[in-house]
Amino acid sequence: MAKIFVTRLIPEAGINALKEKGYEVVVSAHDRVLTKEELTAALRGQNYDAVLCLLTDKIDGEVFDGAGKQVKIFANYAVGFDNIDLKAAEERGMMITNTPGVLTNTVAEHTFALMLAIAHRIAEADRFTRAGKYEGWAPMLLLGNDVSGKTIGVVGLGRIGSRVAHHAVKGFGAKVIYHDIKRNEDFEKEFKAVYKEKLEDLLKEADFISIHVPLLDATRHLINAERLKLMKSSAYLINTSRGPIVDEVALVEALKNKTIRGAAIDVFENEPRLASGLAGLENVILTPHIASATEETRSAMAELAAQNIIAALEGKAPPNLVKKK
Ligand code: GLV
Ligand code: GLV
Repeated sequence: MAKIFVTRLIPEAGINALKEKGYEVVVSAHDRVLTKEELTAALRGQNYDAVLCLLTDKIDGEVFDGAGKQVKIFANYAVGFDNIDLKAAEERGMMITNTPGVLTNTVAEHTFALMLAIAHRIAEADRFTRAGKYEGWAPMLLLGNDVSGKTIGVVGLGRIGSRVAHHAVKGFGAKVIYHDIKRNEDFEKEFKAVYKEKLEDLLKEADFISIHVPLLDATRHLINAERLKLMKSSAYLINTSRGPIVDEVALVEALKNKTIRGAAIDVFENEPRLASGLAGLENVILTPHIASATEETRSAMAELAAQNIIAALEGKAPPNLVKKK
């Protein structure tokens, strides 16, 4: 009977799919992130056939070697896989998979939730109201900005970036400009979107900038102090991708100095820690890496991760195999 290790409790749809195959499923006894030592210790000598891991697990050569040769696949419960050393996986013939597609709508929704919330000052207004500061309707109270009709700059036109662009154009009559390493002329036609080969040109023009690139060496601190200065002082930055893509210390400075008007971010450079000063600012909305966190989507991600494991153990190509670029 195949044996699967799951590094932390996930929705039961995934666990059940594995159990229905007759596999033995061992879920980590701790409902928290395992240290590398704990993870290696949990895997060593257990002859697991597959591991279902999370974006908070740092998976490298040492973990693969500790897990032993019986393990065929590490199935990541996330679309991003920057937590996994793909080179080390390739060297050992280890299969790595992710969970794309099933979270696209949810992350695009969360992106809009953040965009609307920062533009309409929702979190700030909620704090204001709860604090008993509301003394009656006033013409100048908590004025925000519209999203409708604005220019939305999408950085990274993958599945999620494209979905955000769709909502911006179809839902809010916004104009979309986008930057990606690849131009997509079909997308441009469908959404009257304009390609910006240079990120700088997008930053100068957009009213809302939304980040949807994966974390790679080339995208680390893609948004730095210099680039924040290129943004309009009326512009907002939204990040639902990975924290290290934005220089968080530079972002705090830009928000303090009103270099930009606001930011709404779901991911942080050193999770779960926040850059000093970030939490004290009014012109920022912070959510704790929950852009894919709906019951529907987390179940779908669990099932997809399980399907990847099942395919690998049945000798088929897993649907979401990832490779080093
Ligand atoms: C979440 O951040 C994911 O990559 O799925
Ligand atoms: C992630 O699924 C993306 O392609 O944006």
